[in-house]
Amino acid sequence: MIEATAINEEKLNQFLGSGVNDFGATMHAGLVVIGETLGLYKAMSAAGKPLAPAELAEKTGTNARYVREWLNAQAAGGYVSYDADNQRYFLSEEQAFAMADENSPAYLPGAFLVAVSALRAVPKLIERFQSGEGLGWHEHDSGLFRGTEMFFRPGYAANLINSWIPALHGVEEKLKAGAKVADIGCGLGASTVLMAQAYPKSTFVGFDYHDKSIEIARQRAEEGKVADRVKFEVAKAKDFPGKDYDFVTYFDCLHDMGDPVGAAAHVRQTLKPDGAWMIVEPFAHDDTKENLNPVGRAFYSASTLLCTGCSGRTTAR
Ligand SMILES: C[S@@+](CC[C@H](N)C(=O)[O-])C[C@H]1O[C@@H](n2cnc3c(N)ncnc32)[C@H](O)[C@@H]1O
Repeated sequence: MIEATAINEEKLNQFLGSGVNDFGATMHAGLVVIGETLGLYKAMSAAGKPLAPAELAEKTGTNARYVREWLNAQAAGGYVSYDADNQRYFLSEEQAFAMADENSPAYLPGAFLVAVSALRAVPKLIERFQSGEGLGWHEHDSGLFRGTEMFFRPGYAANLINSWIPALHGVEEKLKAGAKVADIGCGLGASTVLMAQAYPKSTFVGFDYHDKSIEIARQRAEEGKVADRVKFEVAKAKDFPGKDYDFVTYFDCLHDMGDPVGAAAHVRQTLKPDGAWMIVEPFAHDDTKENLNPVGRAFYSASTLLCTGCSGRTTAR
């Protein structure tokens, strides 16, 4: 005999529909990384006309059978457009802006590289959920470091020099005249290099506790032609060296610190009396119920996979 249940079939189907959507999106993250790494989106954008899978494969030195499958997944997800009459694929203006143009403020692939790289830590996190130990930034897959740069740099390039710094009292004037700046938790140095390029009379030092990130940041300073005025050094937020800074910056990293109050106290000690501290952080509400939406899910998930473990790691403090 089948027992009656209180399950509402319509609600169940709605829930399962969301699950299918999320399952597709999770798998699709890997496809975005493949497309970004192999230059598939950029080649589609540069072609300027709809392409058959074999044509895209030819342009990118890839295998047409894989590319066809990739294109169909992209089209099903709305990441590329499909001309069914001619069986050709193309990027709309908006798709090209978000998927193929690294200089666009809406460039999306970095987010998916972050997601795919963060997921590689799931086995470690299962263990840390049980032990309560932290999971340091340095313990993650190296794709995370590049993904974070790719994800945040477009926003910094679009806003930092043009609107964020000018919004601070008196800081832009000092940077133009020649100021001493420290960028803490600088990662691969995207923000440090952008500031150095904009303010040639100022000197910059980027600090991060993660030595591998600092090595790459040094390369970025060379590539950006600012290595004469930008140094990158390994140091933790609570004991980075130097005094009398005019400007100290924290880009998306204060919440990753094990002791943010101690980090703030150290900033205070290293600033000139009239110096300024800029903190850039993702915006979230204090009340959980106000974050129960797609942005809140992205933030809570990133926080669970990345930030909470990082802030809990005592050696990184
Ligand atoms: C989300 S990433 C942001 C990187 C960079 N600021 C950006 O915007 O691309 C956070 C960075 O904070 C660094 N970090 C975390 N805890 C730190 C600490 N206690 N001292 C110095 N750096 C730290 C990590 O190594 C990582 O590079």
